[in-house]
Amino acid sequence: MNRLDWSSESGSPLHGSVQIPGDKSISHRALMLAAIAEGESRIHGFLEGEDTRATAAVLARLGVHIEAPAAGDRVVQGVGLHGLRGSADPLDCGNAGTGMRLLTGLLAGQEFDSRLIGDASLSQRPMRRVTDPLALMGARIDTRDGLPPLQVHGGRRLHGIRYELPVASAQVKSALLLAGLYAAGETEIIEPHPTRDYTERMLAAFGSPISFAPGRAKLAGGHALRATDVDVPADFSSAAFFMVAASIVQGSALRLPAVGLNPRRTGLLQALRLMGADITIAHERESGGEPVGDLLVRHAPLHGVELPEVLVPDMIDEFPALFIAAAMASGSTVIRGAGELRVKESDRIATMAAGLRALGVAIDETPDGAIIHGGRLGAGVVESHLDHRIAMSFAVAGLVADGPVRINDCRHVATSFPGFLELANGCGFVLQAVG
Ligand code: S3P
Repeated sequence: MNRLDWSSESGSPLHGSVQIPGDKSISHRALMLAAIAEGESRIHGFLEGEDTRATAAVLARLGVHIEAPAAGDRVVQGVGLHGLRGSADPLDCGNAGTGMRLLTGLLAGQEFDSRLIGDASLSQRPMRRVTDPLALMGARIDTRDGLPPLQVHGGRRLHGIRYELPVASAQVKSALLLAGLYAAGETEIIEPHPTRDYTERMLAAFGSPISFAPGRAKLAGGHALRATDVDVPADFSSAAFFMVAASIVQGSALRLPAVGLNPRRTGLLQALRLMGADITIAHERESGGEPVGDLLVRHAPLHGVELPEVLVPDMIDEFPALFIAAAMASGSTVIRGAGELRVKESDRIATMAAGLRALGVAIDETPDGAIIHGGRLGAGVVESHLDHRIAMSFAVAGLVADGPVRINDCRHVATSFPGFLELANGCGFVLQAVG
């Protein structure tokens, strides 16, 4: 992949309606469940990102026929619980932690061996959080000192477990539930804080007799899934950049239609409102079993807050965007209890702190958060550290900085948000590829 740098600078107020692409988490899950269901499933609003396409390519290697009749549409011919075929070639998950961790659960109960690999960033992400509990279920998975590549041994007889997650993680929960489909007896997961419940909701939609409530889920293995159609809402995490952008650029008013509003994802909405943001929700409805609504975001002066720790899991992917809002807020913003940020696509506490310092912001880094002293952003050069959300957050920073912000190496933006540059420029960003 070639390097791609961006330059972002201030322009006019942001206006108009921005159609945010499909939800990444839901797109991954829809592909996986459709693949092992019986019959044909249609997915609408599928995210055409590199991460979700990598998952589609892995499933194709495992013998699943997936067609793409149009952008954002997939038709998946399910092969049934036991219809996947082994691949002699490694299964490349690209940059996708969700893809790799969920596929590890799915593959742990198969008859064949699999090797899962990823790019430089994914190869540094911790996998024991998934492989340890899967081992308790009877799986055998080799890692490179807890990191990818993962060698998943087939032909294991899995059995259900009752597992209390040490950290709140929807990926780990989902991996264990997918393995639980192949396990004898019941698999029960208990979370320290409820996380996104897409796997649970979608398993139910595919006919699994799963029971779940916030913070817990339980299913019995051996039940066939039946194909169903999935409507994917717009990704709240991608909408987050536009929510922050319109909040901090004077005179802005943006509409973000049909954004997924699952309460386990909308912590940033609450955080921004606590900071004084003017964000309203119109036309709230249900689509594909998920709450969705149109977000109307207007500029408002923001002030710093002590972020309630209880919000952290519900906004775990939105911290890079929040750091930019905090840098433009009056006073200080205190973030605690967010140590998980250190094991995302980059160490997001360190990379955001380094980037904000390069733009003249005073920020104290702590092991599990940061204290950001807001007020103004200066011009400067920042590094994305191959992290899509870091790149997009600093593109937002450029809108309000005293001069241009150059962001080095933004090619990973396409993992989650294809077309970000065009959509951003369409509503008033001045963002261009340089270098
Ligand atoms: C995801 C869960 C979260 C999130 C990631 C997507 C998912 O990860 O950060 O972007 O789709 O289940 P963790 O489970 O590691 O918190």
